[in-house]
Amino acid sequence: MSIAISRIVQGLEPSATLAMSAKAKELKAQGKTVYDLSVGEPDFITPQHIRDAAAAAMKAGHTKYTLASGLPELKKAVADKYKADYGIEYPAAQVVISNGAKHSLHNAFFTTLNPGDEVIIPAPYWVSYAELVKLSGAVPVIVPTEESQGFKMTAAAFERAITAKTRMLLLCNPSNPTGTMYSRSELEMLADIVIAKNLFVVADEIYDTLVYDNRQFASFPTLRSGLQDRTIVVNGASKTYAMTGWRVGWTLSPANVAQKMGGLQSQETSNPCSISQYAALAAITGPQNCVAEMSAAFAQRRDYVAKRIAEIEGLSCAEMQGAFYAFFNVKKHLGRKPGSVSVTNSEQFCLELLTQKQTAAVMGSAFGCEGYVRASFAAGLDVLKEAFDRIAEFVGN
Ligand SMILES: Cc1ncc(COP(=O)(O)O)c(C=O)c1O
Repeated sequence: MSIAISRIVQGLEPSATLAMSAKAKELKAQGKTVYDLSVGEPDFITPQHIRDAAAAAMKAGHTKYTLASGLPELKKAVADKYKADYGIEYPAAQVVISNGAKHSLHNAFFTTLNPGDEVIIPAPYWVSYAELVKLSGAVPVIVPTEESQGFKMTAAAFERAITAKTRMLLLCNPSNPTGTMYSRSELEMLADIVIAKNLFVVADEIYDTLVYDNRQFASFPTLRSGLQDRTIVVNGASKTYAMTGWRVGWTLSPANVAQKMGGLQSQETSNPCSISQYAALAAITGPQNCVAEMSAAFAQRRDYVAKRIAEIEGLSCAEMQGAFYAFFNVKKHLGRKPGSVSVTNSEQFCLELLTQKQTAAVMGSAFGCEGYVRASFAAGLDVLKEAFDRIAEFVGN
């Protein structure tokens, strides 16, 4: 007899990016060299002064539970950062620190959604969104977007998707997986609809510091007055400070939501690791030149990847304006025979690319958009060069 799995978890898709990265690791364990562009993880080690702060926290004996919703000094530092960066004020009590932004998203959905509520998610979307929404019993409503429009949801498409059951818009800006970014005026059009239709928003701003070509990032609650009461901002340390393994994310939200998310967290996980929180505190309050340096390296890689994609026959890609992803169109190579086997969809494309050329990328279908492949350029230039040489060979260039 085996233990039955709950209906909710049975319906859950495991993360495709982590699955591709696990396959890549399997090949590596067999002694093969793999060029891994599957996972959205900076190749940089966490900057030294942040690691030193963690060591100092350990030495000082900060080894006990903190407040379940996070270390008060860190909450204040997060609030101060949003004030300094975007001019928007939050009391520290409206910040909740969690075990990574993924956990923050779970808290946000679980705290605010009821079964049957609809959540509008523009596609392509980050792999975990629809699954996390489903876990809360709510219904993801996927709105397709066009490559020609930078994969951005138009106001008209947004309005068409709204029903009597719609409660939330979930927006990732800059976008994982497309690397494109909404301008302030594009966001304002969406914000006006949010207000007119009495909706609320989860704004995933985890890539806010990774914006290229001097573009201005607009934080969602700053767009219109009153939006702060309708928005849960999600952000974290993973991408900005190369701190994926430390697991620190956060939300800035209305007071009642923050209080309930803290309560939920107190029952589910308690506080995130105390040492990681001290490290995040040092990251936010310490010197920020590391952020600029990493961002400059990503910009250089972005330029390289854009050039390589443009040179490969039959591939195209919307302009990459933020985050560290290229979401390139492979439709011209589907139904054909890149490498030695015929591939008809993006999943087969990625599996064959990995098997034949030891290069890992993620199929667009995992992001709700068939015909595309996501390559992360959080990897170093040497890896990117080899990977794109192999992609070019694979598609017959
Ligand atoms: C759009 C987006 N949101 C949230 C996360 C979660 O980040 P973490 O849980 O590492 O803080 C990621 C990580 O890939 C992401 O790309």
